[in-house]
Amino acid sequence: MNTEIIKITDLSAQDADLSRAADVIRAGGLVAFPTETVYGLGGNATDDGAAKKIYAAKGRPSDNPLIIHIANPDDADRYAVVNDTYRRLAKAFMPGPLTVILPRREIIPRSVTGGLDSVAVRCPSHPAAHRLIELSGVPIAAPSANLSGKPSPTCAEHVIQDLTGRVDMILDGGDCEIGLESTIVKVDGEDEITLLRPGGITYDALCMAVGKVTISPAVTRALAENERPLSPGMKYRHYAPSAPVVLLSGAPEAVLAFLVDEQESRRCAILCYNEETVRLKSNRLFPVGARDDLAAQAQTLFRALRSADRTDAEIIYAHLPPQSGLGLALYNRMIRAAAHTVRELS
Ligand code: TXA
Ligand code: MG
Repeated sequence: MNTEIIKITDLSAQDADLSRAADVIRAGGLVAFPTETVYGLGGNATDDGAAKKIYAAKGRPSDNPLIIHIANPDDADRYAVVNDTYRRLAKAFMPGPLTVILPRREIIPRSVTGGLDSVAVRCPSHPAAHRLIELSGVPIAAPSANLSGKPSPTCAEHVIQDLTGRVDMILDGGDCEIGLESTIVKVDGEDEITLLRPGGITYDALCMAVGKVTISPAVTRALAENERPLSPGMKYRHYAPSAPVVLLSGAPEAVLAFLVDEQESRRCAILCYNEETVRLKSNRLFPVGARDDLAAQAQTLFRALRSADRTDAEIIYAHLPPQSGLGLALYNRMIRAAAHTVRELS
């Protein structure tokens, strides 16, 4: 398949390009597009055939459901059964990096929802994503636009690496603002939700909009063999480079001293804080942002993991993120990339 790449430099002057992309979606084809979180691999969410193509292009197991993307929060009602809790979340956080799981309406085929009777709904704030959905006139089913098992793409080059020849079109909108996938919540009842995947909308922010927010155990720890995850995606080992990732925790000085030693004695890649680059001199060093700048770390993390994976490193070290604020999203992605391997240093 020939993949057309369209650069978006001035969205307001590119409606013809976006219309062509929308035509591809309506005709059952696949378009990768930027969002404020990560790039999505989009197809018509009401078309069973398009959903099958998405799973095939990504190499994704077909029991791992897709998120449907809508242009306006009110449109959710056409595809899912909404309630007041949804409306409150939508008012507070949409458009934006929040996905809400609701009971599915028949118009969304089971192939999109991995056989489930629920459907994940998200209204992205990225202007190109918004325009694409609007012009398509259908909801767009879109997982992250990476090959299954690779880190989510945060710029068009990542999508080009993974999906050239597998999709009809790639819209290049530059770097994603947030860099981690959306926060996913499941509505349990009136004023009650469960946080399934932390992201740009933090736990604290959710608590301001909804009375009871439960954090699913799978967010912070490995599930036991007999535990069933609330979200099928949580059972897959995601975001994992081929070299093992080890997370380091402990006093900053102790961690830095360990890294200084390790870089002398073995081929390690290091995802470090910017402040540490004066002491770490390896050519497999990937600064992810200042220690206190969680937003910068979120933006850089997946790019750094991809870069580290392309080195000849036998092991990848990174810091164990805090679990507060945006840190919880970083923590969740990192412990999975590391298959829960944490080394305590003192
Ligand atoms: O930011 C994002 O959410 C990006 C952009 C493209 O919007 N999309 C994304 O999609 O990250 P994906 O497919 O990589 O992750 C979606 C996650 C999966 O873990 C899936 O299992 C879960 O959402 N999910 C989708 N529908 C679900 C449902 N009905 N019930 C439970 N989990 C669901
Ligand atoms: Mg994904």
